[in-house]
Amino acid sequence: MIRCKRFHAVLIALVLMAALPAGARPAKLVKHPDTTLAATPPMGWNSWNHFAGRVTEADVKAAADELVSSGMRDAGYIYVNIDDTWEGPRNAQGEITTNSKFPDMKALADYVHARGLKLGIYSSPGPKTCAGYPGSYGHEEQDARTYASWGIDYLKYDLCSFREIMQKEAPNDPQKQFEIEKAAYQKMHKALESTGRPIVFSMCQYGWNDVWKWGASVGGNLWRTTGDIEDNYNRMTQIGFMQAGLAKFAGLGHWNDPDMLEIGNGGMTFDEYKTHMTLWSILAAPLLAGNDLTKMTPQTKELLMNREVIAVDQDKLGMEGDRVWAQGPEEIWAKPLSGGAKAVALFNRASTPRRISLKLSMVGFGPQAKLRDLWAHQSVTAIDGVYSVVVPRHGAVMLRITR
Ligand code: GLA
Repeated sequence: MIRCKRFHAVLIALVLMAALPAGARPAKLVKHPDTTLAATPPMGWNSWNHFAGRVTEADVKAAADELVSSGMRDAGYIYVNIDDTWEGPRNAQGEITTNSKFPDMKALADYVHARGLKLGIYSSPGPKTCAGYPGSYGHEEQDARTYASWGIDYLKYDLCSFREIMQKEAPNDPQKQFEIEKAAYQKMHKALESTGRPIVFSMCQYGWNDVWKWGASVGGNLWRTTGDIEDNYNRMTQIGFMQAGLAKFAGLGHWNDPDMLEIGNGGMTFDEYKTHMTLWSILAAPLLAGNDLTKMTPQTKELLMNREVIAVDQDKLGMEGDRVWAQGPEEIWAKPLSGGAKAVALFNRASTPRRISLKLSMVGFGPQAKLRDLWAHQSVTAIDGVYSVVVPRHGAVMLRITR
């Protein structure tokens, strides 16, 4: 009986596959991609949150310079990622070119590499990107080769207009559309792989179809788990706290991506941005700064460059943290770290200060455990196995706990 069921499932899968257009047929799924590329969550800068469609070569060079002079590169921020709107028309050979904002991509890659940084770029499996520029549809291998020849190190691949292709190829058939989508991501991953250049593959399809369950199997090193972030506390926390339960899908070389950072863009208070950085680090999220690096206040630098907090995000165990306790607007999240330590974050989502009490037993420690406050850079003490602290409105306290 079980055999018979299995046979039917295989038969159905074969029929479904045969119904797909040849280019959309997925190859055998791999268990998870190489774990040496993006072994820890990628860190760097991306142009979109601040510059959006206005970004130019000069902005990217300035960002690269600032990553070096501010100390961000040495703190781990090495990817300089150009988001949408760099694309020009295809030439007579069908090769993608750049538009006038980016006169020479190879020279830009050389500029970035000369500073010990890596260059990222953006495209879509669809004919058009989200901002309406040419996408990679029908040119996947060719584009991958072009990126490799320029010296690109990272590709963000954004679904955008590919949704229309899915609908056209399999009208009213969500299951088949899903197969077509997976095949499109897998196709670009294979194309990148065949260039022989290590290129981080960042999937962006807004978390649909529980991408965390299959993103790694189509070659994703990271996949967006949500729609776009905005520079305000409501949207940032909506996205961030929604990550509860996703920890088991992340690991070395494949990460959940709750979108880029807004720190320094001006829409949140210092404590709100502290919550942003704390939560993203507990989540082992990619840390891609999204601000104008040439205009950073000391507070922005303090938030982005706290080495103890970054070490939590980048811990070599590669385990994402999760919520361990919540009561109304108070939440406690924990992330296992190498050597038996844990990072523990206390969040106050209320609009007035709150005293939050952490029972050490709740996160697996006894009363003798040692606590360090990673934002205050000092040791703190638990009394009778409880650490109690006033957390500012919309703020966070982040601890590293060891036995
Ligand atoms: C989508 C993505 C954003 C950004 C824009 C660019 O909205 O989710 O992160 O890349 O497209 O057009």
